[in-house]
Amino acid sequence: MNPNSLVSIDDISREEIIDLIERARFFEEHPNHKVLDGKVVATLFFEPSTRTRLSFETAVNRLGGRIIGFSDASTTSSSKGETLKDTIKMVSNYVDLIIMRHYLEGAARYATEVTDTPIINAGDGANQHPSQTMLDLYSIYKTQGTLENLTITMVGDLKYGRTVHSLLMALRYFNPTFRFIACKELRMPKEYRDFCDANGIRYTETTEFDADSIADTDILYMTRVQRERFSDIMEYERVKNLYTLRNDMLAETKPNLRVLHPLPRVNEIDQDVDDNPKAYYFDQARNGLFARQAIICKALGIDIYKEARS
Ligand code: CP
Repeated sequence: MNPNSLVSIDDISREEIIDLIERARFFEEHPNHKVLDGKVVATLFFEPSTRTRLSFETAVNRLGGRIIGFSDASTTSSSKGETLKDTIKMVSNYVDLIIMRHYLEGAARYATEVTDTPIINAGDGANQHPSQTMLDLYSIYKTQGTLENLTITMVGDLKYGRTVHSLLMALRYFNPTFRFIACKELRMPKEYRDFCDANGIRYTETTEFDADSIADTDILYMTRVQRERFSDIMEYERVKNLYTLRNDMLAETKPNLRVLHPLPRVNEIDQDVDDNPKAYYFDQARNGLFARQAIICKALGIDIYKEARS
């Protein structure tokens, strides 16, 4: 495995998280810093994406590198039965870095085992989405001025939502207090509740989502119910609209509260919330460009500050 790969947020330390946030801030100030001259990056998306793929590709373009890849695996030889192993080994012949999203949990980890080319996991099933976590952390840091001692309320699909799983793990370094709001079918999985217990992280769980349940919250992290992960579509229909943030629910919340959502949104945030100054999800998606520039340079071992000085 290439040690520069980013497969799980669990692979990176507190110091590395803070370093990546500082690098993201650098790229927000220098978005067209051309440090990827001569580098080719592959984006292999076996699952749909708008933000993750386009922000990674914009990041490479703004850094001066080249992109190859696909956004629809049905147009590739995987539709003829080529294995993931063979696809990764082939693409490794052409590029310096592979960014991949796959519907199978563990696919990115598996890819690191069949190539020495660094791999960035852009989402593997319901498991992990570490680059999303870095942009979430950057967004939290920008809006709160700190990552420490925050109260974070996660709402919606806490079972299949890989972004909440990755964020929960990353925040273990920063003394968070979590509130998990979900119906019993979409409850935060036991392994993540156990993770909280093992790491001394405070959390409460409730099925109620109202103004009272977010009164002391700093970050309100809304999530989409992940229809594509349900084996029983009737169960999806039962739970898909249980939790919707209305504008009036934000009236008595803390002044520093910001609403985050990894997007895409379906019905979980009313459209009129978009004009509330506490809505931050579109800025959050913009921060993804800078966080991903930082992640790409780290994966390629590029000293961005040295390049900036020269
Ligand atoms: N947040 C996120 O992963 O969005 P996409 O699925 O559009 O990439």
